Amino acid sequence: MVDHIPRVWTDEAMKEWELPHANPAFSAEPVSEQFYYKLPERVIYRTYPVYHPDHEPDGYWEWLHEQEAEVVFDEAQLVTEEDWVQAGELLFDYPIDTLGAVINTQHVRNREFFEATAMPVTSEGIMPFAKWVVAGKGKVYLGNLSCGMCHTRVMDDGSLLKGAQGNWPGDKAFAFALESDGVSERGVQGITSFLFGSPFAEGDPHGKLIESGREQIIQAYKAVPEGAFGRQGTSILFPPQAPNLIGVKDRKYLDHGGLGQHRSIEDLMRYIAMNQALDFLNFYGDYNPLGLTRERLNSGDPIFFPGTYDRHSDAQLYAIAKYVYSLQAPENPNKPSEISERGKIIFAEQGCVTCHTPPLFTNNKLTPADGFDIPDSHYDSYDIFDISVGTDPGYTMHTRRGTGYYKVPSLLGLWYRGPFLHDASLARLEDLFDARRLQEDYVPTAFKPHNVETKAVKGHEFGLDLPESDKMALIAYLLTL
Ligand code: HEC
Ligand code: HEC
Repeated sequence: MVDHIPRVWTDEAMKEWELPHANPAFSAEPVSEQFYYKLPERVIYRTYPVYHPDHEPDGYWEWLHEQEAEVVFDEAQLVTEEDWVQAGELLFDYPIDTLGAVINTQHVRNREFFEATAMPVTSEGIMPFAKWVVAGKGKVYLGNLSCGMCHTRVMDDGSLLKGAQGNWPGDKAFAFALESDGVSERGVQGITSFLFGSPFAEGDPHGKLIESGREQIIQAYKAVPEGAFGRQGTSILFPPQAPNLIGVKDRKYLDHGGLGQHRSIEDLMRYIAMNQALDFLNFYGDYNPLGLTRERLNSGDPIFFPGTYDRHSDAQLYAIAKYVYSLQAPENPNKPSEISERGKIIFAEQGCVTCHTPPLFTNNKLTPADGFDIPDSHYDSYDIFDISVGTDPGYTMHTRRGTGYYKVPSLLGLWYRGPFLHDASLARLEDLFDARRLQEDYVPTAFKPHNVETKAVKGHEFGLDLPESDKMALIAYLLTL
C-alpha cells in the first residue's frame, strides 16, 4: 500500500501554521503555494563519509573519484512503514548544499580546520556532519546542511547518536571558513545580514553587530559553542540550542520560541520545507533577508542562493518526518537509585512538575518572555502558561523567529545532551542550579556573547535555594529521565 502523501505548502495552511512575530507587524509572510511547487525537486545521490585527514583510508580519495552517481531515492519503491523510515534516514543525512555554503573541500582536507574548531570525530575517524556527494564520475562535492549536520551527536566514546542535540561546532567552522578564505569585510557583513538581519527588532542588535566590522563579526561566530547554532533567522548573539529531535513527535511547538505549530505530520513537513532556506524568501513587513522586493520575487526569474533554489518533494518530506518520528533514545545508563528517588520527590515538591509534567516532562506550553505582552487572542489559539521564567529575552524578542515566548522544554534525555537553556549558556546541570549564575560577574559555562567577559544567566530560579545535597539528588533524578 502506498501512503497518501499530504500536500504541505498550501496557501491556506501556510497562513496560520506559524505563530505571529513578537511584533505582529513583522510576522513572516511565506512564498505562495504556486511559487513553492514551481521549484524543482531535489535529486538524491549516494553519499560517502568524510574522514579526518589522519584517518582517511589509503586510496579513498581516488576511489571516490572513480564512482558513478547513483540516485538513491525513488518513492515508487517505498511500500512498508519500514521502507519510508529507511528512506527518511537517507534523506536526513543528505546534504542540501554542494556549493560550500558553510564549509568546502579545502577545509575538511586541512588538519588545521579540525584543530581550530575542536571538531568531534567518531571512533572510525569520520567527521559525520558533512558528506561527500558524488554527482557523476569525478564530480565529488562536499555536501553541507543535511539534517544530520546539526542534529547528530558524537558521544564521548566516539559513537554516533543520530537525532540527539547535535555537537557540530558549526559557527566555529564557519568562522574558520570566513577567515581562511579571506572573505572581505563586505562579504562577511552581507552574509551575516541575510542570516540574522532583523532591522525591525528594537535597538537593531544585528545591525549593530554588522556595523562592528569583520573582526568582531567573526568573533561572534566563534563564540557560539557546539550544541548551539546560529540557524538562519535566529542569531549568533542569541544562538538557539540545537534541539534534541528524539521525542519531537510529542511536542506541540517547534523551535525554542514555538514558532511552528506541530499538530500533525504535515506541520513537521512544513517545518522541514521552510527551514531549507525557504525562509530567506519570507517577507517580514517589507523586509526580505535577501533584499528582494515582492515584484522581484514573483517575477518568475530564478533566484540564486547560493545555487538555484530547489525543494524536497512532498514524498521526501514525508519520509524525513517519518524517520524523525521513529527516533528512539538509547538505553539510559543511569538507573533509578535511592538518591535519584529522593530527587524525584524534590522534583515534585519544588513544583517542577507543573511545567515539566511527566511523562513528557513538559506541559507542552508556551511561557512569555520578559517584556512580552500576550495579545488576548492568543489565549484562544495557543497553549499558554502565563508565567515568565525570566530567561534572556533576546532570542524571542530580537530575531526573525521571535514569537515573544519560550516553550517549556522536555527534560527527557538530559543525560546525553547539553549545553542547556534555549541559548546554550550553561554547560552542565550543576550550573543551572548554581545561584552564582544570577550575578553580573558570572562567566557562563557554555555560550557567552563575544563582546563580554562576564554575564548573569538570569531566570529559571527554580531549585536555587535547595541545600547542596538536595540539588545533587535532583540532578541525579534528572539524569535518569
Ligand atoms: C545548520 C544546522 C541545522 C540543520 C542543517 C538542520 N537543523 Fe533543525 N534545527 C537547528 C537549530 C539550531 C534548531 C533550533 C532553532 C530554533 O529554536 O530557533 C533546529 C530546530 C529543528 C526542529 C524543531 C525541534 C524542536 O523541538 O523545536 C526540527 C523538527 C528540526 N530542526 C528538524 C530538522 C530536519 C529534519 C532537518 C533536515 C531537513 C534539519 N532540522 C536541519 C539546526 C539545524
Ligand atoms: C513555570 C514553569 C517552569 C517551572 C516551574 C520549572 N521549569 Fe524548568 N524550564 C522552564 C522553561 C520555560 C525552560 C526553558 C527556559 C529557556 O531556555 O529560556 C526550562 C528549562 C529547564 C531546563 C533546561 C532544559 C534544556 O533542555 O536546556 C531544565 C534542566 C529544567 N528546566 C529543570 C527544571 C527543574 C528541575 C525545575 C524545578 C526545580 C523546573 N525546571 C521548574 C519552565 C519551568
